[in-house]
Amino acid sequence: MCGIVGYIGKREAYPIILEGLKRLEYRGYDSAGIALYDGNSIQLSKTKGKVVDLENRVNNEIETTGSLGIGHTRWATHGVPNDINSHPHYSNSGDLVIIHNGIIENYASIKKELIKRGYTFSSETDTEVLINLIEDVKKNEQVKLGKAVQIALNQVVGAYAIAVFDKNKPDEIVVAKLGSPLAIGVGENEFFIASDATPFLEYTKKAIYLEDEEMAIVRLKKGVKIRKIKNDALVDPYIQELQLNLEQIVKGGYEHFMLKEIHEQPNAIKDTYRGRLNANKGQVRMAGIDDNLEKFLNANRIIVIACGTSWHAGLVSEYIFEDLARIPVEVEYASEFRYRNPVITENDVVIAISQSGETADTLAAIKLAKSKGAFVFGVCNVVGSSIARETHAGAYTHAGPEIGVASTKAFTTQITVLTLIALKLAKEKGTLSHSEFHLHLQELELIPDKVQKALQSDAHIKVVAETYKDAKNCLYLGRGFNFPVALEGALKLKEISYIHAEGYPAAEMKHGPIALIDEQMPVFVIATKKGHYDKVVSNIQEIKSRKGKIIGIVTEGDTEVKNLADHVIEVPETLELLTPLLTTIPLQLLSYHIAVMLDKNVDQPRNLAKSVTVE
Ligand code: M6R
Repeated sequence: MCGIVGYIGKREAYPIILEGLKRLEYRGYDSAGIALYDGNSIQLSKTKGKVVDLENRVNNEIETTGSLGIGHTRWATHGVPNDINSHPHYSNSGDLVIIHNGIIENYASIKKELIKRGYTFSSETDTEVLINLIEDVKKNEQVKLGKAVQIALNQVVGAYAIAVFDKNKPDEIVVAKLGSPLAIGVGENEFFIASDATPFLEYTKKAIYLEDEEMAIVRLKKGVKIRKIKNDALVDPYIQELQLNLEQIVKGGYEHFMLKEIHEQPNAIKDTYRGRLNANKGQVRMAGIDDNLEKFLNANRIIVIACGTSWHAGLVSEYIFEDLARIPVEVEYASEFRYRNPVITENDVVIAISQSGETADTLAAIKLAKSKGAFVFGVCNVVGSSIARETHAGAYTHAGPEIGVASTKAFTTQITVLTLIALKLAKEKGTLSHSEFHLHLQELELIPDKVQKALQSDAHIKVVAETYKDAKNCLYLGRGFNFPVALEGALKLKEISYIHAEGYPAAEMKHGPIALIDEQMPVFVIATKKGHYDKVVSNIQEIKSRKGKIIGIVTEGDTEVKNLADHVIEVPETLELLTPLLTTIPLQLLSYHIAVMLDKNVDQPRNLAKSVTVE
C-alpha cells in the first residue's frame, strides 16, 4: 500500500508531485507528505489526513520551489497515522530523505543496533529505521548513496518500493523495489518516479518498470542505471510505451470514480471479450489459453487463488468451470493457501485472480504454487503488474483503470474472462454440445446491452436505498451461481457504507442466520427465474413469515417474488450461469447510493486501500 511519487528535471517538482499524489491516493490516504529540494535547502511538509490536507499545510508552511522532489500518500502499517509517522523521513544528519511503500520486517533488530550506535528516532516507523541504516552504511563504508542503499537493502527483510535523495547530490534520486511496484517515467531531460504510471501520463508515455530486487540510480544528466540489488549486475533498462490515457483516470463528469466504474461495465465487458469471442464463427481465442491448452486439458483440478472481490469472482468461476468444462475446482483465499502447506502437484493448474496484480497474499500464493511445480495462470487488470509478470501465462481483463477502492468493473470483467476460458475448455473437451456452445457465445455477446438495461433501474434503486439506508444489519442471499454475488453484495455494502452485512447461500439461512430475522432486517435475495427459483421463493416465504424486509433481485417480468417482496429490482433475462454479470449491478448501485446518502467517502472508505501490498 502507499503511493510514492518523485520528480527530477527542469520543471517545478511541487505541482507534479501534488497531482501525482492525488492520483495515487487510492493506494492509501491516512497521511501524506512531500520533500522538495532546490539545491540549497530541503523543504519538507507532512500531515495526517489526505493529500488535500497536505496541500493546505504546504501553502502555509514551506516554499514550493525546487526541481527535485518526492511525495508519499500512506496506508499505515507501522505506527498510527499521525504527522510524525508520515513520510518522507529524514536521516539523523538531515542529509538523506526517503519515501517507502512496504514493510521492513526486521526493522526492530536493526533499530536496536542503530540506537546502540547513537541514532535517535522520532517516529515509530520502519522507514525511519531504513533511512538511518542507509546513512550508517554510507558513513561507515565511505560509499555514495546508491551503494549505501544497495548494502542496506541486502540487510533488510521485507518488501519495499523506495525513493531516496541526498542533500549533497542535487541531481540524483535512488530507487529500489522488492514486492511493491515502482515505475520510472522517462521524459526529455526529466524523470518521474511513481507507484504506477498515472502521475506522469501527461508528461511521457515511456516507462521502465523495475523488477523485484532491482534498484536504479536516476540522474538528471546521465539517465537511469539499473542494477540487481543482490549481485550488483547491471540490467539493460527496458522502456515500455504506455497505452494508458489521461481521460481514463479522471471522473469524467461522475460524482465518484465508483459510479463511473459501475457505468463503464457495458464497455468494459465488451473490451474484455473483444478479439477473443466470435459468436458468428463459434470461436473463443485467448493466446494464454491456446498456448497452454494441454496444461488445462490435462489438469487434475483447477485451484483458484485470490482475495476480496477477486475471490468472489473465483467462486463464481468454480460453478462455471465445473458446470461447463467438468473440471474440479477449488477456490482458496490466497492468505490461507500460502500458509497452510497445501497439497499441490504438477498436474494442478492454479488461476490467480487480481485486479491490481499487486496483492501481496496472492503474489506469495503464486510463488508457493510455482515452487511446487503447478502451472500458474494470471487473470489481472493492471498490465505489467507483479502478478502478471510472476505467472506462467495469463489473460488481462482489459477493464481500464479501476480507481474506486470498492471493486466493481473488475468483478464483472474477471467473470467474463473466466467464462471465456471455461467455454473454450468445454469446447475442447466436448463437455458442451456444439449448439449449447454457440448459444453461450451469443448470450455472452448480449451481456453488455443487458448490463446497460440493468443500469437503467438506477432511479428506482435510489428509492430502495433511501428506504434501507439506516439499517444496522443486512443479509444477502443467493444460490448456485448467485451465492458468490450475495457475498459480493454484502462486501460492497460493508466496505463503503460501514453497515454490517452478511452474504449466505439462501438455503443455509435456516441453519442459523434465520434467528436474526425480524422486522428491522432487510434481506436482499437474488431470485432470478433460473437457478433453483422455487427453492429461493420458499426461502423468501420463510423470511416473510418472520417479518423480515425482502428486496428481491428478479428477472424482468417476475410476478411471484413481486407479490411477496417489499421491493423488487429487475434485471434482464439471460442464461443461468451468466446471471451474476447482471444481478451484481443493482447491488453495486444500492451500496453506492446508501453510502452517498450516509455521507461516506465512497471512493476512499476508511481503513482501506486499493491495492493491498502488505500481508
Ligand atoms: O487487486 P486485487 O483484486 O488482488 O484486490 C483484492 C482485494 O483487496 C479487493 O478485491 C478488495 O476486497 C476490494 N476492496 C473489494 O471491493
